[in-house]
Amino acid sequence: MQHSAIATKRPLARLEDAARFAAWAFTPFHRLAARELYGLLAARAFTANGLYLNLGYWKTSRTIDEACAALAMLVADAAGMGPDDDVVDVGFGFADQDMLWMERVSPRQITGLNITPMQVRLARQRVRRRGMADRITLIEGSASAMPLPDACCDVVTAVECAFHFHTRADFLAEAFRVLRPGGRLVLADIIRAAPEPDGFRRRVQDVTWRLFAEKFAVPAANADQRAPYAAKLRAAGFDRVEVRPIGSQVFPGWHQALRADPALFARLPLAGRLPYRFLLNFDARTVYAALDYVLATARKPAQKGEPDGVV
Ligand SMILES: C[S@@+](CC[C@H](N)C(=O)[O-])C[C@H]1O[C@@H](n2cnc3c(N)ncnc32)[C@H](O)[C@@H]1O
Repeated sequence: MQHSAIATKRPLARLEDAARFAAWAFTPFHRLAARELYGLLAARAFTANGLYLNLGYWKTSRTIDEACAALAMLVADAAGMGPDDDVVDVGFGFADQDMLWMERVSPRQITGLNITPMQVRLARQRVRRRGMADRITLIEGSASAMPLPDACCDVVTAVECAFHFHTRADFLAEAFRVLRPGGRLVLADIIRAAPEPDGFRRRVQDVTWRLFAEKFAVPAANADQRAPYAAKLRAAGFDRVEVRPIGSQVFPGWHQALRADPALFARLPLAGRLPYRFLLNFDARTVYAALDYVLATARKPAQKGEPDGVV
């Protein structure tokens, strides 16, 4: 099905997009900014129903649709999201996670921020059609310069996107600014894995991280491993910082699903299908050896200078 926000493009513009996408895909270190990359991806998504763009949380999920929703719910649960919360959701894709949260945990208000104009337009249409436009407001804007006032929300979330932000540290400063005292930050994020002791595996890690970072618009400043990542959260002012590895519930499930579900494989853009035909010959541990998938939680101290809010 073609979405109307995409259908408005003229055939020549769509041909140009296809050429630019192919140039990105088939030139090893050809970079695109996140906004261009997602603009060219258009409304391609991983799920059969809905338009999620994350690798999924596979602890109990059996399909990509369940896994993408499970990742979104993992983030909401870690934030303790509920009816008293104003939420700022950064990098919302096509807003599937926001509509899911509204349905399941009913926060008071969600304000979404996304840097890709085409996604914002299409997500707005979808939210309107679901009758949620009075409680979900979607804005075009950057994670590292949020067009939002200070202390306007109780929860900030970013589902599988903070690795793109320019930079993640600038985003953390912004998240701290827009949160009210006592507010919570939850990120499902991709960072650099600790280096393997074996020399050959470490070189493979280095090359695959470089390819990942170049292809998926990851600034060099975001190549954090777990400890420096936690340190950045603390340096931004957060307390109760936890950075929990969840990669074993993400990468193998995604990898296995690509092997077992031809419809999911077919939904990848051609540029993804070609490398995956090769990569699926290896196990997930090898393919994702350079990446660490984490669930990070943190809190803005309840009162300035009172790390645990104790008076
Ligand atoms: C991998 S997709 C994840 C989308 C969605 N969270 C999901 O799980 O389906 C990354 C998203 O981050 C957004 N994004 C990338 N850089 C951004 C930035 N600097 N500020 C705001 N959004 C950004 C992209 O437009 C895209 O929607």
